[in-house]
Amino acid sequence: MRAPIIAGNWKMNPTTLDEAVALAHAVEAAARVAPSVTAVICPPTIWLADVQRAIGRDGISIGAQTMHFEERGAFTGETSPLMLDGLVQFVILGHSERRLYDGETDERVGRKVASAVAHGLRPIAAVGERAEERRAGETAAVIDRQVRAAVGGLDSLTRTGLVIAYEPVWAIGTGDAASAADAQEVCAQIRQILRAADADAADAIPIQYGGSVTAENAGELFSQPDIDGALVGGASLKPDQFAAILRAAARA
Ligand code: 13P
Repeated sequence: MRAPIIAGNWKMNPTTLDEAVALAHAVEAAARVAPSVTAVICPPTIWLADVQRAIGRDGISIGAQTMHFEERGAFTGETSPLMLDGLVQFVILGHSERRLYDGETDERVGRKVASAVAHGLRPIAAVGERAEERRAGETAAVIDRQVRAAVGGLDSLTRTGLVIAYEPVWAIGTGDAASAADAQEVCAQIRQILRAADADAADAIPIQYGGSVTAENAGELFSQPDIDGALVGGASLKPDQFAAILRAAARA
C-alpha cells in the first residue's frame, strides 16, 4: 500500500548550472528503469527552476533541501514556501546537517512541516540520533522527541503527503549504514509514534531510511516492512548507482 519513494539529496552539489542540468537529465533517464518508484531529486535551491525547466513537469519529482516557515519577511538568504509553490513537490526539512550547522531546532522543524503542508508541499521530515546519543542508549528517546515535534503542528496526518526520513547521523557519509534490522527497529518505532498521532493515517505514511545507502545495501533495507524507500546523499550524484537503488526499490 506504500509505494516506495527514493529521494536524492544533492546537498551543495554540483557547483555549476551545466553540471546540475546534466545530472538531472541523467537521473531522469536512469529513473525510467523503475517507473513504479517515485524518484525525487533535491538540487540546491539556486538550480531548482533551471532543473525543473530541463526535465519538464512530467518527469521525475523535484524537492527543495530546506525552506522557511514564513511566507515573507526579513529572513536573509531564506526561501519562502510561496517561492517553492509550483517549482517542487517535496521539501526536505530538519536534515541533520541543518540541525547541526544552521540552528534548526525541533520546534522550527515542526513549524516548517506544518507550513509545507499548508502550502501543498510534501515534507520529508528528517530525524535521527547522533553517534554519542546512540552510544548512550538514547536513540528511542531522541527519535520520539524529534518525530513528535515534526508532526506537532499538524491537526491530522491524513492527506498531508508527509514523508519521514530516518537518518542516523553516524551513518551519513561514513559508508557505515545502519544494519537493516536496526533501521527497521527505529522505523517501526516511528510508525508507532505516527499511529499514536493519527491511527488512520500512519500506515500510509512512507518512512525512508537514509545514511550511506548504496546499490549494494538497498535491497536488504527495502525488504524491511517499515522501510519504504531511501533518502540518498552521495549515491544520488551517480546516476548508475541511483538507478540501481531505484531498481532495488521496485523489486522490494
Ligand atoms: P549519504 O547517502 O551520503 O550517507 O547521505 C545521506 C543523507 O544525508 C541524505 O540526506
